Amino acid sequence: MIKEKVSILFQPSGRRGEIESGKTVLAAAQELGVPIESLCGGKVSCGKCKVRIDLSPLEKGDWVELRLSSFSAEEERLIEEGERKAGFRLACAAQLYSDALVFVPEESRGVQQVIRKEAREIAIELNPAVKAFYAELPPPTLHEPTADFERLLRVLDQSFGLRNLTIDFQALRLLPHQLREADWKATAMVWMDREILDLQHGKVEDYYGAAVDIGTTTVAAYICNLRTGRVVSTGSMMNPQVAYGEDVMSRISYTMGNPGEGLKRLQEAIIQGLNGLIQNAAQAAGISLRQVLEMTVVGNTAMHHIFLGIDPHSLGVSPFPPAAHHSQNIKARDLGLKIHPAAYVHVLPIEAGFVGADNVGVLISETPYHKEEMALTIDIGTNGELVLGNRKKLLSSSCATGPALEGAHLRFGMRAAPGAIERVRIDPETLEVRYRVIGQDRWSDECIPEVIQARGICGSGIIEVVAEMFRAGVVEKSGRINGNLSTPRLRKIEKGYEFVIAWARETALGQDITVSTSDVRAVQLAKGALYSGAKIMMKQLGVNRLDKVVLAGGFGSYVDPERAMILGLFPDCDLKEVISVGNAAGDGARIALLNRNKREEADRVAREVEYIELTVYPDFTMEFAEAMAFPHMKDPFPHLEGILKK
Ligand code: FES
Repeated sequence: MIKEKVSILFQPSGRRGEIESGKTVLAAAQELGVPIESLCGGKVSCGKCKVRIDLSPLEKGDWVELRLSSFSAEEERLIEEGERKAGFRLACAAQLYSDALVFVPEESRGVQQVIRKEAREIAIELNPAVKAFYAELPPPTLHEPTADFERLLRVLDQSFGLRNLTIDFQALRLLPHQLREADWKATAMVWMDREILDLQHGKVEDYYGAAVDIGTTTVAAYICNLRTGRVVSTGSMMNPQVAYGEDVMSRISYTMGNPGEGLKRLQEAIIQGLNGLIQNAAQAAGISLRQVLEMTVVGNTAMHHIFLGIDPHSLGVSPFPPAAHHSQNIKARDLGLKIHPAAYVHVLPIEAGFVGADNVGVLISETPYHKEEMALTIDIGTNGELVLGNRKKLLSSSCATGPALEGAHLRFGMRAAPGAIERVRIDPETLEVRYRVIGQDRWSDECIPEVIQARGICGSGIIEVVAEMFRAGVVEKSGRINGNLSTPRLRKIEKGYEFVIAWARETALGQDITVSTSDVRAVQLAKGALYSGAKIMMKQLGVNRLDKVVLAGGFGSYVDPERAMILGLFPDCDLKEVISVGNAAGDGARIALLNRNKREEADRVAREVEYIELTVYPDFTMEFAEAMAFPHMKDPFPHLEGILKK
């Protein structure tokens, strides 16, 4: 007999609860708030969600199959035989029909990503959409009984030249009471010189807005004083939608696989997350949510659609048209956002199916369209977005960098979380490795092995590792690992070789952390996609050299420019001109919040940038194949002269 509900106990967290029989262990974990690594979003393809399942001892009997779904072919492929015998399953595949104890091993435990989205110091001309106007109104008399709203309009026209104003419906409801309570001295909060959002007691000096960057993996919010332009508080969090899929495509498929409900769940997740994030940030700054009178939002096209509750299906199928290109202004209350209920949310425009409002944010922050220099901007997120050009013309494109740079599909890949190896140096003579993990200030050779507790290699770490392996001669130009080297770090494995980065005693996993031939291959695919994308765009624009390379995005900021170029992530450029600009998409949201003219600029630029679809370019396959080599099969890298051996 199959039970309707089963009890599940997760260890070592000790979380327990009852779930519907037939659910997967991953779904149960999400329900009970147990973080399990699920880089492919439960698609049974990344192999990162391994757990050990013990069926309840009382129920162990002859019908084990009935109480746990049987092994799928994907599990057979992703779980080694020894692990299978020890009771390991993939949490996203194993369905439970009986009580169980689930042990989540260290490497499968979802860990908090380190979120690197600090606000940069940037000069922004102040001209916010919301402005405050203090007015003193003559109270009505028998001789002059004009209505409250018209009375207010008259004063705002006479004192500030504001004409044809409308008023938010809820603000109108409160108006009579507020005017009298304030003894006819109040501040009107006006949006775009068009609509009164609120009337507040007396003279209001400070009022605020929030700029939000919704990334596929991380979300950042900056609360700014709209009078001074200063950032008064910042906050960041993991995008709560991560539980439903790590990348854009897996989230789109989640909405497709769960019609109606899926989109609702994803939208609720981000709205609730944002409400909490902004509340905390506002609290930290000592302001109330009613003082937050506007929000600007950037995000890639899928995040944009899901945030607005727009079905993202069309983004998942060629020719990937978005629902709308233009920027949108929506009442916060219509989205369930708990800032001032009359506040507007301004969502920046999008360029194309895969080049979203986040890229427009980067554009208005970096303004390549005002400059003479030929600049390549690379926003390396879960997807790679590229913009090339100058004031004469701009091209944009996006390429699938694959999950390697996010730490997925690598044997020891992980997100940028404590314990992730992010900096690496390999001595070309001895082939000895030193590295640094997130959360530790010291390099591995400066501490005793047991305190390092390395857990894996993050995206910026894998770029360093492979670049260093190439520089030291461990990896050849073709991407092959040189099997003739004499070092205990090199081992022959079934498919090629592996090179040990961290010895077992230095790790929290109890096993060596290695980089294998297939890991190098995954990095080649990612860097090949970025490089060939840039090259095709250069050909398209008729340019053969770059004046500047701008690395944007939380991940881009942590990539070491020299190692990125050694690897051939982008074409040759003077290393002094390769710069990291941090979260430029978030800066763009801030700029649009503080200067409404920039919104028009964003709308204009989003339409002017020419989007090119790389995969339809006739030489795409050849360019891609050539770009797979380190740093490139043919292209010269004069700026690596002296850094790389001939
Ligand atoms: S294999 Fe289970 S989440 Fe990827």
